[in-house]
Amino acid sequence: MTAQENLTTIEPVNGPLVGSISVPGDKSISHRAVLFAAMAEGTSRLSGVLDSEDVRSSLGAVSKLGAKVNLEKAPDGSLYGGITGWGVKGPSAPSEPIDCGNSGTTTRLLMGILAPWDIEVELTGDDSLRRRPMRRVSGPLSRMGAKFLPEDQDTLPLTIHGTRNLKALDYDAPVASAQVKTAILLAGLSADGTTRVTEPSPSRNHTELMLPEFGAHTTAASGVAEVVGPTTLKASEVVVPGDPSSAAFIACAAALIPGSAIQIEGVSLNPARIGFLRTLEQMGVDASRRSVSSSGKELSGIISVQYCDKLHGCEVPADKIPSLVDEVPVLALVAAHAKGITVFRGVDELRVKETDRVAAVIDGLAKIGVDAWADGSDLFIEGNPDLVIPEGVKFETGKDHRLAMTWALAGLSGNCPVQVADFESCAVSYPAFLSDIRSLVRER
Ligand code: S3P
Repeated sequence: MTAQENLTTIEPVNGPLVGSISVPGDKSISHRAVLFAAMAEGTSRLSGVLDSEDVRSSLGAVSKLGAKVNLEKAPDGSLYGGITGWGVKGPSAPSEPIDCGNSGTTTRLLMGILAPWDIEVELTGDDSLRRRPMRRVSGPLSRMGAKFLPEDQDTLPLTIHGTRNLKALDYDAPVASAQVKTAILLAGLSADGTTRVTEPSPSRNHTELMLPEFGAHTTAASGVAEVVGPTTLKASEVVVPGDPSSAAFIACAAALIPGSAIQIEGVSLNPARIGFLRTLEQMGVDASRRSVSSSGKELSGIISVQYCDKLHGCEVPADKIPSLVDEVPVLALVAAHAKGITVFRGVDELRVKETDRVAAVIDGLAKIGVDAWADGSDLFIEGNPDLVIPEGVKFETGKDHRLAMTWALAGLSGNCPVQVADFESCAVSYPAFLSDIRSLVRER
């Protein structure tokens, strides 16, 4: 470790987590609300929008492209207000590159949004984003007629030059990715005819659920989504529910910290997002959910989780991974405390997230004496119910927000303080993570 390293010490909590909490707005739904509003004709009204670095990347991008953003901070920390879109006149060419920060969703969705317009836009991002694969989106969009420069380059910075003569596409996606699917569907809105994306297993469907609210003709079945173009989105209203991926950290904290019993309110219960609850249940955790409302077509409700003193390993099949893709690191930490081996099948996609999360989980768990390994596409964790965290552990995160929160949780739920490098990266998705956890602690 060098002197410049930015380490945060995380102390164990001194009591169980008890009571109710709301988590910030869903990141995926917030991005879509902002981006679809920017594309639409008229002024959309948004509320519950997540105020985090990633969503700010989308807000900054649409402002540079000519949408009028008028959002304010609500008392609960979310953003609300209006976004007036560019509608039929289209986005304006920005005078400088658009910096998408750490946000893969901003980048990939923008590629689809810009594909139908005859302007040049350079997209770039931070070190992590500039390592992530983009050909999975530029490839199919090129088949529709858009150009990306430098040609054949997989990574940012990329300059997109769209075309008003985009062709509809029937695309068999090689990976289950909501970002890829959404980019193609958004481009397809401007193409003549039906654009269809078929996935190997269904990824999150927020786009398919939200586009009809903006007046688009969309059909969705498990693993197949279609839009019919050409069409212009019309302003709408979006109420963003709480983020299940943020809720997962609270849920796993409750499962690990003795005596805990918590409820998370107002959280999205979209089945494509709550695979982590099923995995916790399979590990023996008393975890349940109750739907209480829907915002648009998105279900939301309450998640309840209790401490479990008899965690056991389980197997998560490959076709369930998309429903918990962002939760694998924190579930791996729970698995580290479980009796027996847990296996996550088919986790190759984790290698191209903000960091290589398969390697990061294996390295991080090794620091606390837990054996984890990859075999082909599968990730194995050999848990230890009597796990004792050694003194002086320093976790690396590669500035990956989900790793920062996972390793912080190792300390919060453990027997001694740990150090987490670049813990502040949790601001990408859940800036108030630590204070939210601490607000639930009932001190002994
Ligand atoms: C997201 C989709 C997922 C997820 C990411 C957000 C989205 O990625 O990991 O954090 O908002 O569409 P995939 O594109 O791999 O499904």
